[in-house]
Amino acid sequence: MCGIVGYIGKDIKETLIDGLKELEYRGYDSSGIAILSKNDLFIKKTVGKIENLELASKDYVNTEKSIGIGHTRWATHGKPTDINAHPHLGEFSFVIHNGIIENFQELKKEMSDDLFLSQTDTEVIVHLFENNFNKLNDELEAFKATIKMLRGSYAILLISKTSKENIYFAKLNSPLAIGKNDNGNYSLASSDLAMQEDINSIIHLDDGDYGVVCEDSISLFNNEEKKNIAFKTLNSNKLFSQKEGYKFFMEKEIYEQSTVICDTLASRVSDKISFDELNMDISKFSSIIICACGTSYNAALSSKYLFEQIAKISTNIEIASELRYREPVLDKNALFISISQSGETADTLECLKMVKKMGLKTLAVCNVDNSAIVRLSDEYILTRAGFEKGVASTKSFTTQLTILWMLSIFIAQEKNIISDELLEKEIKAILELYSVLEVPKILHEKIHKLSKRYLHGHGFFFIARDIFYPLALEGALKLKEISYFHAEGYPAGEMKHGPIALADPELFTIALLPRSRLYEKMKSNIQELIARDSTVCIIGSSDKDLADDFIEIKEYSHQMHEYFSMTIVLQLLSMEIALRLGHDVDMPRNLAKSVTVE
Ligand code: G6P
Repeated sequence: MCGIVGYIGKDIKETLIDGLKELEYRGYDSSGIAILSKNDLFIKKTVGKIENLELASKDYVNTEKSIGIGHTRWATHGKPTDINAHPHLGEFSFVIHNGIIENFQELKKEMSDDLFLSQTDTEVIVHLFENNFNKLNDELEAFKATIKMLRGSYAILLISKTSKENIYFAKLNSPLAIGKNDNGNYSLASSDLAMQEDINSIIHLDDGDYGVVCEDSISLFNNEEKKNIAFKTLNSNKLFSQKEGYKFFMEKEIYEQSTVICDTLASRVSDKISFDELNMDISKFSSIIICACGTSYNAALSSKYLFEQIAKISTNIEIASELRYREPVLDKNALFISISQSGETADTLECLKMVKKMGLKTLAVCNVDNSAIVRLSDEYILTRAGFEKGVASTKSFTTQLTILWMLSIFIAQEKNIISDELLEKEIKAILELYSVLEVPKILHEKIHKLSKRYLHGHGFFFIARDIFYPLALEGALKLKEISYFHAEGYPAGEMKHGPIALADPELFTIALLPRSRLYEKMKSNIQELIARDSTVCIIGSSDKDLADDFIEIKEYSHQMHEYFSMTIVLQLLSMEIALRLGHDVDMPRNLAKSVTVE
């Protein structure tokens, strides 16, 4: 994934570091900056978070107008070390890169081993550029020749001592945007978020775009052709996110769910569901295919139950990294829905490209407007969760599933297959989500206390049935992501076909026991585990004394109310366990929020 920034102007160190802080969600194994001024060169790289880079470069003062590039890394090739951190340097140039250069080994073979300092795929770019420059004696031609040799995915920024005023850029399958302020100065970054406050117009580059930016001009090419540049206004209301009194973004985002859900619903719910943003006949599709990764995939899995129950439409859920390499036989009359918080996830994006080629109609359910997935889809619905900063996704999950729930009702409405009673019941339930998603103080305290019993053991099973089963998967994923415990979500009815062999007091089972779906069956499955001495914690509104522990949710009759109150419990439980273990829940090890590499 990685985040990149480039800037030309004064206060360059501060500007680059501020931009990198906004991009830290894309990876934080290491970071680095390179700055070139008339009489000066500064390069600094450090392992770990951006604050380390900030500290290490605190004595560097530069008041001149300069050019600079900065990078925050999520390691793909080579461990997170200072040497492997970007920028990578040659004799006279510096490069940063987000993506993967797939043919880097091949390209390296053509060059002397002595040139290479790092184990990264990226370093090859800077040496290729310098070879090409030595042959062509022209920076732009050398850069062009370099990117022609690369295979894979990339957003690249390169600066060179040979001019000290240009930033060269190229984009293929990794995001890159160029922003402009009122004075006509340019800035480059992986995302709008990393642009400075005064940037008010933007272009999101297309695949194959490359060019050069200098202080007050820009040249953009694609396929050897010069391209016209059409800047769009950048919404000045940057999705700025602060912790607002919470210690962690994850905690803030869990608590925020009850308010952001109102934005998700706004103008979409009255006595019926409407999506004014959609310009298609939603009733015409014979089936639905949903594709996603991670938490978005778990939201998709849950929505399958709703599309089938409410809209009576056959629904298949696909993991993007699998779908893209299969030879899938897809229903040409299906609606293909991509779900993504970031709108940038490489595998989800590639699947979207693939099905568009096959001629399927595509819809994105996404949190980030103007993201690659939104731009490429025929239609899109924004989840309006607000900026989510915690790597472990929380409010994105609830807003995604709410949109999908509403979409299932919308399809049923348009197909004329939902009764007035059911429509009224579903709408009432949706409008009550605000209070369902509120976090009772007493619940949080209870989970905090109880979490200390779950800090050891040889693993967790999260079990549930029906629509609650994907929620069990999500509960296990949350716990894995931030506590680093082994945790598995499992359909409760399947435990007896293998996993129950693991049952003993050191096996922790978190069991979701809703009253609204398969209550008796689920209870039997829990009893089977209790009988085999597993340590069981029930999340539900009844059967307080059945197991070792009990986390009580309010009594609700609607399945989605039980579902969402259990979601809050699972999010808090994983957070409290991780905090007791001393982990940084906002930036868990090895993960990144936006996965822009496959
Ligand atoms: C990463 C994040 C997850 C997220 C997944 C899919 O793995 O850490 O939280 O669910 O990517 O991301 P998307 O932006 O496509 O929803």
